[in-house]
Parts: sequence; structure tokens; C-alpha cells
Amino acid sequence: MKLSIIQFSPELGNIDHNISTLETLFSSMKEKPELVVLPELASTGYKFKDRNEALLYSEEVNNSRFIEFLTTRAKQMNCYMVAGFNEREGNKLYNSSVLTGPGGVVGIYRKLHLFWDEKDLFEPGNLGLPTFDTELGRIGMLICFDWMFPETWRALALKGAQLIAHPANLVLPYCQSVVPAYSLVNRLYIATANRIGTEDELTFTGQSVISGPKGEIIATGKTDTQEIISVDIDLAKALDKQITPRNNAFSDRRVDVYGNYGV
Ligand code: ACM
Repeated sequence: MKLSIIQFSPELGNIDHNISTLETLFSSMKEKPELVVLPELASTGYKFKDRNEALLYSEEVNNSRFIEFLTTRAKQMNCYMVAGFNEREGNKLYNSSVLTGPGGVVGIYRKLHLFWDEKDLFEPGNLGLPTFDTELGRIGMLICFDWMFPETWRALALKGAQLIAHPANLVLPYCQSVVPAYSLVNRLYIATANRIGTEDELTFTGQSVISGPKGEIIATGKTDTQEIISVDIDLAKALDKQITPRNNAFSDRRVDVYGNYGV
């Protein structure tokens, strides 16, 4: 399967500009991707000065220029896309990601673990940790700071996710080095699409990463360069949880001692 992640710098509060940047990037893609993963809050940028500003640029799933654009392009390109966006439902905001594809929107995930001042803007996610079946395989989503909580990766893995798409706006320097370990212990693929650039005092750290079921780093991005990173992966490999002939990453677990991560 051909997987691409796009590392770019969304402009704060400018959905049209961000759509146009992505249009240029999609049009420049030489290899035909089957799944494209974009950063967190790719529609709007990140550092809203307050909730009113976040509200101004939020969109409802069923009335979103950004999601309509992605879905139109997913149909034209015959691929799936995952992207972070600023979701409004009623008067509540969520830091969300959408999985959309040739047949339309497949599913939404709402970030469970809000980072720093996000706690003033968004509600914590209330849709749990869903996985979505596509003809590519089973896909789960996490968003940025969710990375800190091993339970999230494990729960998605136990639900059969073969790939976890991870839109991010990382500012701390830790995540990129632990993502391959989460791939290894859960024996699955992870695509962390991180943004670049700065907003106010925040500098985003780029270095998007794709890792595989043996903990291998398949590709990484640069620190501050807009780029499309494309790789070929085999999602069937994420179905094999065997470590040695006598060890299995799932069935060797001692759920009698430490539970089953709510699965
Ligand atoms: C983050 O969760 N955007 C760091």
C-alpha cells in the first residue's frame, strides 16, 4: 500500500489558504497514494488566542469546506485521507480528525488528551477510540499529545488497527523517538504527520515519522521543511503479533494482572 504523509505549515485562521496549499501539494504528488495523512488542525492552524477565535474558524462535519475539499480530492485521487480539523458540534469544540475516502466520510476521532491551553478551547474527546475498516485494512486515529498515553495505542491495537494515523502539532521533542517503540510493542504501522513552522511562542518540530511492526523507522521528515513523504508498506504484516515461536505480543499478555485497556 502506498502511504504518504504531508508535513506543512497551516496558516492560523485561514482555511481557504490552507485548502489552496494542500491543493498545490496534492497536485504535485507523483506517486498515487492510497492513504494520505495530514497534521493536526490542518484546516486552521493551532494557537488560537482564545475560545472565541477557535469558534470563529471551527466547522461542523456536515458543513465543512475543509472536509468537502478533502473528500472531493479523495474521490478524484481514489484514496483515503486523514486530517486534523477544528470541529464544532452545537456550541462545543473538539480537536478532531477525519478519515475520508472515495465513498465519503468514513469516521471521526476526537482527541482524548488535550495539551496545555487546548484545555481552554476544546472539550476532551467523547467518541472513544474507534477503528475503521477500509479496503486497505483497519485504521485507527490518535491526535498529537495522545501519544503520551500508551493505553491509547494499545487499545487501538487490541481492536485490530493495522495502522494508526497520527496527525500532530508537536512542540515537545519526545514523541518522534517513541513512535517506533509503540509500533514495535503493538506490531503495527504508525504514521505521525507533524506540522512545521511557528505560531506565537510555539515552534513545531516537524520530523514526521512512519514506523513499522518491527519498530523499524521507514521514513522521517526534516525539522522545518514542507515535504511529502511517501512509502510502500504491507498492512498484512501488522496482523502478525508473533515475536518468537513461543511468544505473542497479544496472547502472552497477563490481563489477569493488569487488565485489558478497556477493550
Ligand atoms: C499537541 O498535542 N498538539 C502537542
